[in-house]
Parts: sequence; C-alpha cells; structure tokens
Amino acid sequence: MKKIIKILLIFFLGIFVIIQFIPSGRPGNEPVAGQDIFEIASIPDDVGVLLKNACFDCHSQSVKYPWYSYVAPVSWLVARDVKFGRENLDFGKWGELSKRDKMKILGEISDEVGDGFMPMQIYITMHSEANLSDEERELIVNWAEELAEKIFEE
Ligand code: HEC
Repeated sequence: MKKIIKILLIFFLGIFVIIQFIPSGRPGNEPVAGQDIFEIASIPDDVGVLLKNACFDCHSQSVKYPWYSYVAPVSWLVARDVKFGRENLDFGKWGELSKRDKMKILGEISDEVGDGFMPMQIYITMHSEANLSDEERELIVNWAEELAEKIFEE
C-alpha cells in the first residue's frame, strides 16, 4: 500500500514538472502611447484606484502577474482570463474604440459591476483589494454612466 502511494506521488510530481514546459500563452503587456483610458478619459482618483485594483489585471495593457501565474496549471487559467478579458474590454486600448463602442462597453461595465459579475470571483479570492463594497461598486457604476453621457454629448 505504502509503495503505491509513493509511486503515485512520484507520478504526479513528474506530471507537474512536465506541464511546466508547456507554454502558458500568457499574453504580455503592449501599451500603446496615448491609448490608455487614463490618458484619454476623466477618471476621478477614487474610481481610478478601484479600476486599477479590480479590473486592470485582466482588462488592460498593464497586467501584473503574481508568482503563481507562472506555475502551470494556474498559468493556463490566468492566460485565458487575460486573453478573453482583453478581447471584451481593453482599457489600455481605449482610444482605439469608436464613440459608439465606448458607450456600449461603459453600459456593460455598469451592468457587470452593478450586478456583481465583475471582477471575477476567482480573482477576488486571490486579491482582497478587488473585493468591492456596495459603495465602491456604485462609484464605478456612476462613473461609467456619467462618462457614457459625456461621450454621447461630445
Ligand atoms: C480575473 C480577470 C478579470 C478581472 C479582474 C475582471 N474581469 Fe471583466 N472579464 C473577464 C473575462 C475573462 C471576461 C470575458 C468572459 C466573460 O464574459 O465572463 C470579462 C468580461 C467583461 C466585460 C464584458 C461583459 C460582456 O457582457 O461582454 C466587462 C464590461 C467587464 N469584464 C468589466 C470588468 C470590470 C469593470 C472589472 C473590474 C471591476 C473587471 N471586468 C474585472 C475577466 C476579468
């Protein structure tokens, strides 16, 4: 019995080591000068802190990868979230969006944050600063709606 456990342990350890060699596909940061939302839109400081703490690790070109995001299989999950996150919303390429797309995504930000779908739960588990209170959610929702109105009137 003891021998079986030992063999299984070595087996899983082997698998763990081998999967480290599979490329994670973790996307790098490619900031484009003049395109980041912080360079373009008006963002009050309190909202800015919240966006950076709770959204930017999946929706920007300034993603900070923690050490465990370099270890498979977690690296695969992180890579997927950043890839799909950016495809939906990339604050680092805000300037590339049309007026209409900006208004649309601001509406989605307001819905997702207001309804508690964003930030992703798994992210909150690892990043307590992304655990937004109701007041903080309201700050983001109000900001997104005001900015959408401003863009509409431009
Ligand atoms: C851990 C990564 C992660 C974090 C942190 C995160 N998101 Fe997302 N977000 C995603 C992924 C992945 C998707 C696309 C898949 C989906 O819809 O679930 C997404 C989708 C979205 C969408 C588009 C939804 C739609 O219906 O198309 C919006 C808007 C959004 N996120 C806003 C935010 C905001 C605002 C924050 C911060 C308060 C945030 N997200 C934090 C990963 C993240």
